[in-house]
Amino acid sequence: MHPLRGALIGYGFIMEKGHAAGYRQRAENGGDVEIVAIADVSPERRAAAQAAWPGARVYADHRALLEAEAGRLDFVDIATPPSEHAAVALDAQARGLHVLCEKPLAASIEEARAMLRQATAVQRVLYPCHNYKHAPVIKTVRSLIGSGRIGKVHLVTLQTFRNTHAKGVPAWRTDWRRERRYSGGGIAMDHGSHTFYLAFEWLGSYPVGISARTTTLGPYDTEDDFSCNLRFPTGIASAHLSWNAGVRKVLYTVHGDRGAIRVEDDDVELAVQERGAGGAIGWTFERQAISSDWMDSSHVTWFNSMFDDFKTAIARREFVGREAEESFLCVQLIATAYASAREGGRELPLEGLAALDGDEVSAKRTRASGASS
Ligand SMILES: NC(=O)c1ccc[n+]([C@@H]2O[C@H](COP(=O)([O-])OP(=O)(O)OC[C@H]3O[C@@H](n4cnc5c(N)ncnc54)[C@H](O)[C@@H]3O)[C@@H](O)[C@H]2O)c1
Repeated sequence: MHPLRGALIGYGFIMEKGHAAGYRQRAENGGDVEIVAIADVSPERRAAAQAAWPGARVYADHRALLEAEAGRLDFVDIATPPSEHAAVALDAQARGLHVLCEKPLAASIEEARAMLRQATAVQRVLYPCHNYKHAPVIKTVRSLIGSGRIGKVHLVTLQTFRNTHAKGVPAWRTDWRRERRYSGGGIAMDHGSHTFYLAFEWLGSYPVGISARTTTLGPYDTEDDFSCNLRFPTGIASAHLSWNAGVRKVLYTVHGDRGAIRVEDDDVELAVQERGAGGAIGWTFERQAISSDWMDSSHVTWFNSMFDDFKTAIARREFVGREAEESFLCVQLIATAYASAREGGRELPLEGLAALDGDEVSAKRTRASGASS
């Protein structure tokens, strides 16, 4: 099999430090990926891309890249601001390319739906960068839940603290996360996906309702503080995301009927209930540290585990698998959370994956993704 030939669209922070660094590691370990072209609207970023990838052809516009490179590509990797994800993905899909796309999949439900539908129609993989699933400490949580030691999970809490909004590269609107026209929203748009797909996994189902609040302290049109409650068929999740924190940290708790797991960055604590003499309940605690490089916001050490799954989806022809469906649900949750916040936090129902259905194309999607659902 020839190496997968990829084009990088948006050569900013996460592409350079997270994805491209991962591709370089792959090139050194077997060479299953070849980066043949790069597009970025910023001249400075194009110069950085050309210096780092002298063998790649560099373009100022993704359409010019797709036109010139027709027939020489297998996939595009998109890491532009969210406002551009759908346009780039739809153009790439129309050229018959697989798409790896940073989160959030898109800035609106309509755009996300169009991306999933077109992936099915052209029979090419659409895969979101849900990289937190690949953090070593999250893999540990997965195996602890799977071991059954905490019993059946019915409550999760997810807190993400940041002392500032993440900044893009200085060469191109470094504060784009504070401009709705590029970001589509604030910290919920930026971090909601990671929060929601972890909750789906830990609670083993998809939510049916959400209530949310947003606050903006700075002079911006995107929120910097977000809290929400999600109702699932299997339990509840509550989340708090903030760019106003005094520390950079994730703090997750997962509660079952026999115990709980707490994650604080690399630290994992397992609490298991024990019934003592006379029926009194006590807990035993086990603690471990799983090095996961949380302070490195490029999360480069998680990239290749995720890219392996993208490759597997291509090999299995899972054009719209579970990850893509969940990325659609994440966008739906974010949009519905904003609607709830506008209504003072009233709980709003979620249509879920049914929002994709109702036409011939999405019926095919369901069949194509059946293996992974
Ligand atoms: N999964 C993660 O852990 C993670 C972490 C950081 C960022 N991200 C995501 O990656 C994406 C990029 O974020 P970033 O922090 O790297 O931003 P960034 O500003 O550093 O990079 C964006 C790049 O896109 C370029 N660009 C803008 N519009 C373009 C267009 N139309 N065509 C081509 N290039 C264009 C800019 O010049 C810039 O170089 C966002 O979707 C963000 O949510 C994900």
